Amino acid sequence: MTPLRPLFLLDPDVVFLNHGSYGATPRPVFDACQEWRLRLEREPVQFINHELPGLLRRAREAAGEYLNADPDDLVYIPNATFGMNVIARALPLAPGDEVLTTDHEYGAIDNAWLHVCRKRGARYVRRPVPVPAGSDAEIADGIWRGVTPRTRVLMLSHITSSTALRLPVEDLCARARTAGILTAIDGAHAPGQIPLDLRALDADFYTGNCHKWLCSPKGAAFLYTRRELQPMIEPPVIGWGYGEHRKLAQNPDYVDALQWLGTNDPAAYLTVPAAIAFQREHDWPRVRAECHALLGESLHRVSALTGLPPLYHADHQYAQMAINALPRIGDLAAFNRRLFERYRIEIPCLEWNGRQFLRIALQGYNTRADIDALLAALAAELPGGLTKRGQI
Ligand SMILES: Cc1ncc(COP(=O)(O)O)c(C=O)c1O
Repeated sequence: MTPLRPLFLLDPDVVFLNHGSYGATPRPVFDACQEWRLRLEREPVQFINHELPGLLRRAREAAGEYLNADPDDLVYIPNATFGMNVIARALPLAPGDEVLTTDHEYGAIDNAWLHVCRKRGARYVRRPVPVPAGSDAEIADGIWRGVTPRTRVLMLSHITSSTALRLPVEDLCARARTAGILTAIDGAHAPGQIPLDLRALDADFYTGNCHKWLCSPKGAAFLYTRRELQPMIEPPVIGWGYGEHRKLAQNPDYVDALQWLGTNDPAAYLTVPAAIAFQREHDWPRVRAECHALLGESLHRVSALTGLPPLYHADHQYAQMAINALPRIGDLAAFNRRLFERYRIEIPCLEWNGRQFLRIALQGYNTRADIDALLAALAAELPGGLTKRGQI
């Protein structure tokens, strides 16, 4: 695989198999971010009052081109949690209305929707999606069976967190549009990991992180809102971009309202174009394909070791991140700590629906040697009774 590891700031003593939690930023992109900070600090007033509006517009244009979306429908926000909170609070849910989702959603996002639904008297309906996964059609049909006459919103992860499953959101967004149901997609793991085309997807709301798979510095995400629905959006903080005292009109009711929330550090947003450029310069489609192929091989090796079958119906249901089932481990957190303390392996061991999994995430800096190290550690640390322990 491409020798990208030296370009990342990661500790060389750690086998880093957890790009999924917070991403990791390459040095040239990190340096670009520091450059923005320096520029700001040299003349904060000129920079923030006069240069920043145009710079943010250019950064939104770069994101719009990358995501195939009109830049005026996109606004930078700190993270996907923020984005999904804005969406959940915007929707006019009435008592008895239903928000349909799955039992694979991220905890913070579940919290946001549960809070809003509780306040409005609405129901948050979590449809089970089985693991091992069925075909895309079976997954989509299973979720869709949760639709009732009261369903107002379909909220789905594009790629789930705990189970790293790529949900068939294209099919489900199309069904929802026909049925008059709003769609809100949590794309925390999508930008950079899979090709994204927001026009083709045609969701009503989409929030995505740049700081995970696009490798931008932390605190950069976006919120896309379909033009007709933008008047619904209320910023969580009322600042200069909102209401009568608006000074900086871009797309005043949407972009300005969410963009000018008070003084903050805009460097992460301004660096997104550099993150996009970094991936272009390093032939990211090839990097993705290599990571995906190595991941497929890794899943089979871990399965051979544990004797527990792979969990995906088809290869396209995961991209650069996937899970393996673990045999029952008493104290999973202690097991996870041992992998780090004894072997310097950073990898999430997680519980979902009472079952235990290992989530492998591969980025351009990983190599087969990282997987060899993981297999050796698992062979030594997994509890006894493994069927084919010798096969790593
Ligand atoms: C599916 C999903 N949604 C939302 C989030 C939240 O992302 P952030 O912490 O950047 O807001 C995550 C984080 O891992 C996630 O996996």
